Amino acid sequence: MPDAAAFQTSGAPIEFIDLGAQRRRLGPRVDEAILRVVDHGKYIMGPEVAVFEQELAAFCGAKHVLSCANGTDALGLALMAKGIKPGQAVLVPSFTFAATAEVVAWFDAVPVFVDVLEHTFNMDPVSLEAGIATAKRLGVEPAGIIPVDLFGLPAEYDEILAIAAAHRLWVICDAAQSFGASYKRRNIGTIGDITTTSFFPAKPLGCYGDGGALLTDDDSAAAVLKSLRVHGQGADKYDNVRIGMNARLDTIQAAILSEKLTVFADEIKARNQVAARYESALEEVVAVPTMPTGITSVWAQYTVRLPDGRDRDAVAASLKASGVPTAVYYAKPLHRQLAYRHYPTAGNGLPVSDRLASEVLSLPMHPYLEEGTQNHIVAALRASLRD
Ligand SMILES: Cc1ncc(COP(=O)(O)O)c(C=O)c1O
Repeated sequence: MPDAAAFQTSGAPIEFIDLGAQRRRLGPRVDEAILRVVDHGKYIMGPEVAVFEQELAAFCGAKHVLSCANGTDALGLALMAKGIKPGQAVLVPSFTFAATAEVVAWFDAVPVFVDVLEHTFNMDPVSLEAGIATAKRLGVEPAGIIPVDLFGLPAEYDEILAIAAAHRLWVICDAAQSFGASYKRRNIGTIGDITTTSFFPAKPLGCYGDGGALLTDDDSAAAVLKSLRVHGQGADKYDNVRIGMNARLDTIQAAILSEKLTVFADEIKARNQVAARYESALEEVVAVPTMPTGITSVWAQYTVRLPDGRDRDAVAASLKASGVPTAVYYAKPLHRQLAYRHYPTAGNGLPVSDRLASEVLSLPMHPYLEEGTQNHIVAALRASLRD
């Protein structure tokens, strides 16, 4: 099969994420996979689900993979498997998508917001220690940590796992944005107690609807998760041994994901080429993402920080006028959101999360972004900063 570079779409409007280019590359294979499921009719837990789970395990090296309905349910199931109790604290970054903290609140547990590092956008281990101290001071028992691999870059796991071990906390890795990345020779999916991911269409490995997965090397956690995913089932589906959820991945989505997985490694390579081109073209004009040594990203987003005092809306408007779509992830950190602002924050506020929220701008990023298009994006950004 031709590689990503052969499927770029000169002349078409610039897409923030070009799923159409991927579809053209895969040709009729995805449609055929969908039709196979429609023909055999096993829409729920059909054979494609187990096949995809095995392929995903082989891809990342996790011992157990359980697909599920979406990345949010994956986090919820992981918390249930860890036996989360009302009133316990879970340390989460503030600069993330709401789902990371939302699932903690589902169980009347307490998300404690931790600051992030300016150069990686990921959980700051120093702030994590402060968050644990804050929880203890408030009389809320810390139970675990949910680090997030924001924008596709793995979190500072050496430091986070050491802190978790010192305080006897579990670690659920929210890898919704980072499946396919690696941390010091370990693939995402093999770090922490349980890893969760999302196959939302815009994710690096996305399906054609909602989807997610849990990955773990822990045999007993895997057995519990399998039961939780289907209403806490025991020996069969009418034997209920615990309170669970209905959180299965649709067979059609599993069939689509298997096809997409065949080109995923090549797409990750292409994403890294796109990121490298952005870095060399932009490092003098904006703060580009830093890549810590030994860590690889899947570049779910390519997010830059604008220079101090720059009007982000004006820059985005200028880019839009040049045909360049952009996005802001995340304009308001969770500890400032109406739904979450009554929960504790680590130490004396989260200044880095606050600052990043006003500086970040994500540029078009996908494996099929051709060099000429990227040159146009770079020129448009440079021009907008000169205005
Ligand atoms: C960091 C993070 N966690 C969790 C989720 C939830 O995934 P889903 O949308 O599949 O429920 C997302 C999805 O956007 C995410 O970015």
